[in-house]
Amino acid sequence: MTSLAHNYHPLEVTVATGDGAWVTDVAGKRYLDCLAAYSAVNFGHGHPALVAAAKAQLDRITLTSRAFHNDRLEPFAAALAALAGKDMVLPMNTGAEAVESAIKVARAWGYRVKGVPAERATIIVADGNFHGRTTTIISFSNDADARADFGPFTPGFVSVPYGDAAALEAAIDETTVAVLLEPIQGEAGIVVPPASYLPEVREITTRHNVLFIADEIQSGLGRTGATFQCDNAGVVPDLYLLGKALGGGIVPVSAVVGNSDILGVLQPGQHGSTFGGNPLAAAVGLAVVELLQTGEYQGRARMLGERLQSALRGLIGHGVVAVRGAGLWAGIDIDPALATGRRVCELLMEKGVLAKDTHGSTIRLAPPIVVTAEELDWAVEQLAAVLKELAA
Ligand SMILES: Cc1ncc(COP(=O)(O)O)c(C=O)c1O
Repeated sequence: MTSLAHNYHPLEVTVATGDGAWVTDVAGKRYLDCLAAYSAVNFGHGHPALVAAAKAQLDRITLTSRAFHNDRLEPFAAALAALAGKDMVLPMNTGAEAVESAIKVARAWGYRVKGVPAERATIIVADGNFHGRTTTIISFSNDADARADFGPFTPGFVSVPYGDAAALEAAIDETTVAVLLEPIQGEAGIVVPPASYLPEVREITTRHNVLFIADEIQSGLGRTGATFQCDNAGVVPDLYLLGKALGGGIVPVSAVVGNSDILGVLQPGQHGSTFGGNPLAAAVGLAVVELLQTGEYQGRARMLGERLQSALRGLIGHGVVAVRGAGLWAGIDIDPALATGRRVCELLMEKGVLAKDTHGSTIRLAPPIVVTAEELDWAVEQLAAVLKELAA
């Protein structure tokens, strides 16, 4: 019996401590953390620089609210804007809040700058999207579980097939203010679009004076072997949505990052958050940006990612039907005749590897970027062993 609402169905492991790529449960058993809190722990559990930044800030001040300035926020915003090659940052807390904020910004930009008729703004999204759990965000989800009994929904969204630039262009009309996309769809099962897709979306949105909003909350900040997955695709969106790893796995930190001709539409009183941009979040966020400025983590994810993806491809035909991914992020489709993704994750857990299933027979791996090559090889060996046992 638990006092918790049953909105999650966790594996039967109770984590007590973490260190780098590893966590330890209450009984002292160690596991390689191949989920990394859905990429929020990109830099590993207890990264010394991030913990030091948090501890130092705990002794100074943790919360002031945006009614006053705090001395951590401007340095964080300036560093993050520079990392993204933009000039303005809107700090929030959770990923869903960054998405909600961008929706508001895009609508206000549409009315005030583009000249879309009042109350008619539409935003184009992609089938299979996952952008969070608020009522507005689930309004444009296609996931029945995410939506059931939570209506009425927010209007103003049009969904088109993911990866199909022609369908996206056909959906644009005089009311369209933005296109909101994940550069790789994470929750959908690490769905990588065709290489031409994001460049085409960039060209189409520019031509139609429509904002291109890239939700890099899961794909960004090192995970795919670049600062942003958009870098790998060679595109620069109008707005980046960031979250998860921006808080270093220590505090929730999210942000909308763009240029002042777009983010500048927000005026005092029009948007806000009690905790957004608080000094503790800003101190940790700045330390995260400093880790990314070196390029070390992006390079590491790229190099180790190639090793991971090729090792996983070796399992195709041995219980695996397909492997997708980029950098240290992989979606693995298990042969549904063999087992569910959940069952594979349970058996992996017994062998000391924590992973997460999605959509029935897919499992995804997203280990902290501090993982070693040997640890990765070991994790793939455990998966191979699980699949072999299931086939026996
Ligand atoms: C692409 C993407 N956007 C938004 C979110 C929502 O973030 P949060 O759970 O912090 O609200 C997620 C969470 O998984 C995500 O993967």
